[in-house]
Amino acid sequence: MRLAVLASGNGSNFEAIIQAVEVGEIPAEIVLLFADHHDAYVLKRAKDHNIPYVSFELKEFEDKQAYEAALLELLADHEIELIVLAGYMRIIGKSLLQAYANRIINLHPALLPNFPGLHGIRDAYDAKVSETGVTVHYIDSGVDTGPIIAQEAVKIESSDTLEQLEEKIHQVEHQLYPRVIAEIVKEIQR
Ligand code: GAR
Repeated sequence: MRLAVLASGNGSNFEAIIQAVEVGEIPAEIVLLFADHHDAYVLKRAKDHNIPYVSFELKEFEDKQAYEAALLELLADHEIELIVLAGYMRIIGKSLLQAYANRIINLHPALLPNFPGLHGIRDAYDAKVSETGVTVHYIDSGVDTGPIIAQEAVKIESSDTLEQLEEKIHQVEHQLYPRVIAEIVKEIQR
């Protein structure tokens, strides 16, 4: 199975997915890393692991549709079968959704439907809830609204700083996402 990972920033989850592929936990190949920023650290991770990588930015295109058409072409050229979003901070548009129905999954750092959007960890922290977590879900046309595949809760202690909570969330993500990706790949192959 040919995977593409789409990311915007650091790429610690991309790194966790690479490890899981390398040890055979995920029976698939990462054939493309795409970043929507030329200076995203995730590109260095791809380079270090000899994974083909491409970056382009929305502002280089006339509009969002043209950007997405270029992305779609890139994915088609690489014969991608499953798209894994790992810190990709953009809404997926109609053309991609149609071309990859039920083949785009996302990781979100909160227990959806609570705290959707760009700042899931901070929003939960500021809301002073006692529990938040991590969600893996299929993408649909809404913002963090697609069918949920897996969730794991994370307690927020009253002594936790935002940085400590971020660390706890990332630790859970790095375990949960590779495990769920492995299950989905096996399911598709069945
Ligand atoms: C992760 O916490 C992921 O859940 C979040 O971005 C972070 C990326 O970290 N995604 C979203 O907030 C999507 N709305 P990473 O670049 O180190 O993998």
